[in-house]
Amino acid sequence: MKKVLILFAHPKFEKSRANAALIERLNDKKHVTFHDLYERYPNFHINVQREQELLVEHDIIIWHHPLYWYSSPAMLKQWKDMVLEFNWAYGPNGKVLHNKTVFNVITTGGSREVYCTEGYNTYTVNEFLRPFEQTAKLCGMNYLPPFAVMGTHNLSDRDLTNYANAYEQLIDLLQTDFSSQEFKKHLFLNDLETLTI
Ligand SMILES: Cc1cc2nc3c(=O)[nH]c(=O)nc-3n(C[C@H](O)[C@H](O)[C@H](O)COP(=O)(O)O)c2cc1C
Repeated sequence: MKKVLILFAHPKFEKSRANAALIERLNDKKHVTFHDLYERYPNFHINVQREQELLVEHDIIIWHHPLYWYSSPAMLKQWKDMVLEFNWAYGPNGKVLHNKTVFNVITTGGSREVYCTEGYNTYTVNEFLRPFEQTAKLCGMNYLPPFAVMGTHNLSDRDLTNYANAYEQLIDLLQTDFSSQEFKKHLFLNDLETLTI
C-alpha cells in the first residue's frame, strides 16, 4: 500500500471547524500518518532527522493547512526551511524525494469566486500556492493540484461532511494507479468527477 503522510499545520486547531471536520475520518486508516506539527513542535524546534525519516517512509505527502495571509501558517514554512536540506531534498545529491507525490489540502475563508483577476483577492489559489509547487519541483516531486475547501464561513455542517467524505475518497483514490496527468487537468482535486461532494 502507498503510505500517506499528512503534515498538518493549524495554530488554532482547538477552534477549528473546517479542518476538524476534514480530518475526523482519517484516523482509522492504517496507511495514513496524521502528523500535527503544531502539537509536536510547540516551540518550533523541529526534529529534522525524524521529519526526514518520515518523508522517506511515505510515498504521498500532503501539506494540509488553512490559508493564512495567502500562504500557510508559519510552522509549515519552518518545516520546509529546516527539513528540506541541500543535498538531501535538492542539489546534486538530493534525490531522496524524487517521484514522491505531494499536494496541498487547504481551507480558505474567501470563496472560490473572489480568487480571480476580477475578485478582491486578484489571484487564484493555485497562484498563491506557487512556492509549494516550485518547492516540490525543485525536489523532483510530483505536485498535484490542491484539494480546497473554500468559503468556510458560509459552509453548513452538511457541506463540511461532504468535503470530509470527498477527502477520504481522495485518499483512497491515491491508492489506485491514478493518472497524475488526468489529475493535473483540474484546478482542484475536489473537481475530480470520481469524488462526490
Ligand atoms: C491569521 C489568519 C489569516 C487568514 N488569512 C486568510 C487568507 O489569506 N485567505 C483566506 O481566504 N482566508 C484567510 N483566513 C481565514 C481562514 O483560512 C479560515 O478561517 C480557515 O481556513 C477555516 O478553517 P478552520 O475552521 O479549520 O480554522 C485567515 C484566518 C486567520 C486567523
